[in-house]
Amino acid sequence: MKILPVEPRHIPALSALAAKTFTDTFGHLYPPGDLQTFLRASYAHDVLAAEVAGPDQFWRMAWLGDEAAAYLQACPVGLPHPDADPAREGELKRLYVDTSHHGRGIGKQLLALGLGYLSERYGDAPQWIGVWSENIKAQALYRANGFEKAGEYGFVVGGVTDREFILRKR
Ligand SMILES: CC(C)(COP(=O)(O)OP(=O)(O)OC[C@H]1O[C@@H](n2cnc3c(N)ncnc32)[C@H](O)[C@@H]1OP(=O)(O)O)[C@@H](O)C(=O)NCCC(=O)NCCS
Repeated sequence: MKILPVEPRHIPALSALAAKTFTDTFGHLYPPGDLQTFLRASYAHDVLAAEVAGPDQFWRMAWLGDEAAAYLQACPVGLPHPDADPAREGELKRLYVDTSHHGRGIGKQLLALGLGYLSERYGDAPQWIGVWSENIKAQALYRANGFEKAGEYGFVVGGVTDREFILRKR
């Protein structure tokens, strides 16, 4: 497996992987029309290309040969918590492994890489993650890495508002 920075030529593969992994994980929660609108707004090629090229963005993709197997985004914190300071603190924003490759250590490796980046970029500042309240597997992984619940917020997809936990590692 290779873990590589995301370059412009990777955007089509990133877009397809992001839409697939979001749909596999959360697709059942939303009406199909709302899901499609969210996927376009979040993962269209131009949207992702602009986000990847933004300031203080850390994106990595894991490749198994030519297959994009997982991706990670770390960036300035954007979570709605009164203590979160995007000028001084970072967030592990997205961590998705394709379903067919779950449970092989890829998520752990990418998480370690992302947290290492946040430590380098923001020093000892708190690190943040938002996670769906019912995503027990991801929560277990984050807890094992020192994250604790610091708050909650509503994540809106179309007409549905999900309950999300805000996790922080001090
Ligand atoms: C959460 C996710 C990133 C973990 O990646 P992964 O490559 O499957 O996980 P790993 O093989 O690296 O295992 C990491 C930890 O996850 C947990 N885990 C792994 N497989 C598990 C399973 N079948 N059931 C419960 N927990 C499991 C364990 O805590 C494991 O640590 P351990 O090996 O020390 O016990 C991945 O499952 C995923 O992409 N899920 C869908 C998207 C998602 O939920 N992303 C997080 C959004 S915040």
